[in-house]
Amino acid sequence: MARVLVVDDETGVRESLRMLLKQECEVVTADGADAGLRAMAELPMDLVLLDLVMPGKNGLAFLEELQEQGDAPPVIVLTATKTVNTAVEAMKLGAADYVTKPYEIDALRIKVRQLLQHRALQREVVRLTDELEERTHIGALVGRSEAMREVFRTIERLARSPATVLIRGESGTGKELAARAIHDLSPSSGGAFVPVNCAAIPDTLMESELFGHERGAFTDARERRIGKFEAAGGGTLFLDEIGELAPGPQAKLLRALQERVIERVGGNRPIEVDARIVAATNRNLEREVREGRFREDLYYRVHVVPLELPPLRERREDVKLLAERFLKRARERLGQGPVRMARDAQLALERHGWPGNVRELENVIERAVTLAEGEVLELVDLPETLMRGQRTEALRDGLRSKQASFEETVATFEQDLLLDALERNDWNQTRAADALGITRRLLKIKMDRHGLSKPD
Ligand SMILES: Nc1ncnc2c1ncn2[C@@H]1O[C@H](COP(=O)(O)OP(=O)(O)OP(=O)(O)O)[C@@H](O)[C@H]1O
Ligand SMILES: [Mg+2]
Repeated sequence: MARVLVVDDETGVRESLRMLLKQECEVVTADGADAGLRAMAELPMDLVLLDLVMPGKNGLAFLEELQEQGDAPPVIVLTATKTVNTAVEAMKLGAADYVTKPYEIDALRIKVRQLLQHRALQREVVRLTDELEERTHIGALVGRSEAMREVFRTIERLARSPATVLIRGESGTGKELAARAIHDLSPSSGGAFVPVNCAAIPDTLMESELFGHERGAFTDARERRIGKFEAAGGGTLFLDEIGELAPGPQAKLLRALQERVIERVGGNRPIEVDARIVAATNRNLEREVREGRFREDLYYRVHVVPLELPPLRERREDVKLLAERFLKRARERLGQGPVRMARDAQLALERHGWPGNVRELENVIERAVTLAEGEVLELVDLPETLMRGQRTEALRDGLRSKQASFEETVATFEQDLLLDALERNDWNQTRAADALGITRRLLKIKMDRHGLSKPD
C-alpha cells in the first residue's frame, strides 16, 4: 500500500485528510516542517500533502529541502485561497500540484490517486530497466556477459516451474550457486534446500542417505533416520555430481523419481516425495550413458530441462566484475587489503585461461589480497602463470638494458607462448599446437627443449 505524508499544523486538517485517504493508502501525519522531514528520513513516502503556512519552518522551506534529496516523492500543496501566489511559488520549487482550502473532497482524492499511480509506474519502469540493462546477478551468481544474462533469464523461468533441472558445466562454474538461486526464486523457497554430494558418499551408505532408515534396519542403524528426500520435502533436493552415482543407487534413485514415493531402508511404508529436484554434473552424461556407466532411463528423468553454465574463458567480460567482487569480499573479511587492481593485473586476469573457472579466480584473488601491499593489487601479486602473459614488455626491457642476451630473451618468449597455449588448452597438445599453428610433433620437441610438462 502506498504511503502518504500529511504535513499540517492544524490537527483538524490532519485528521480529516487521514479519514479521507485511509481507504487507499497508509497515512502518516506531521504537525510541522521539521517533523515532516524527520518522518521522511524514517520511512519512504510516495506522496506528500503539504500545508504552506505553518509556524516555524514553512512549507516552501520544506519543499526546498525536499528537492535537495534525490528521488523525492511528489508534493501536493494545500493552500488558502488568498495565497494562490504562494502556491505558484511552490510549483516553481517542484510541487506537483496544489489544492485550495477548503478543498473539494473528490478533486483531492483524484489528484492523490493519479499521483500515486504515476509514482508506482515510475518505480516499475525503473525496476524493469534495471533488471534488463543492469542485471549483473541473480542470487549469489554474478556476471554481465550475454551468456550469463541468458543463464539468469533461464533461472528465472525455471524457478517458476516444478520441472527437474539438470545443471551442467565445468568444475567451478557456479553450478551450486545456480541451484540455490533456482530454489530461492521458486515457490518451494519456504522449504529447505538440501544438497547431497553423490561423489562424497560411499555407495553402501547412499541409499540410507537418500531415503533414510528405520531403527534396526542394519547393524549400525541404532536410531531411525530421515533421508535427504524427506528432509527436502516442500523444498529442493540438490543432487550434486549425479554423474558419480554407482549403479545400485542409480536404480533406487530412478524409482524414487519415477514413482514419486520412497521407502526408508528397513521400512515398508511408502512416503510421498514432493521435493523439487535439481541435479548437477560436470561430466558428459551422454558419454557416460553411451559407455554404460549411467542409466539411460535415469538420464532422461533428470535431463528434463538442462541449464548450461559456460566456462569462464568463454565469458571474459565477467572476469573484471567477479574479481572486483572477490577483492571487496576479501578486504571486508580481512579488514584490510588493496582497494583496486592495477591495469596490467586486470589484463592478466582477463587473458588467463581459467581451467578451474570462477573457483580458481576466487582463489587467485584471495591469495593476491593477502600478498598485496598498499592500495593497489599489482601484477606481481598474481601467480607466476598469470604474470607470464604480461611479460613481453619486461623481456624487451631486459634486452635493452643488456641484462639478458638476445637468445635468452627469445627463448623465454617462446617458452611463454608454449605455456600459454598449453594452459589455455588444458595441456591438450593437439589443441595447443593447433592454437600456435605448429605441428604437434614440433610442439613436443619444443616442450622437451624447455623442459615443459603438465604439472600434477
Ligand atoms: N557467477 C559466479 N558469481 C560469483 N561467485 C561464483 C560464480 N560462479 C562460481 N562462484 C564461486 O566459485 C566457487 C565455485 O562455485 P560452485 O561451487 O557453485 O561451482 P560448481 O560448478 O558447483 O563446481 P564443482 O563442479 O567443482 O562442484 C564458489 O565459491 C562460488 O561462490
Ligand atoms: Mg559443485
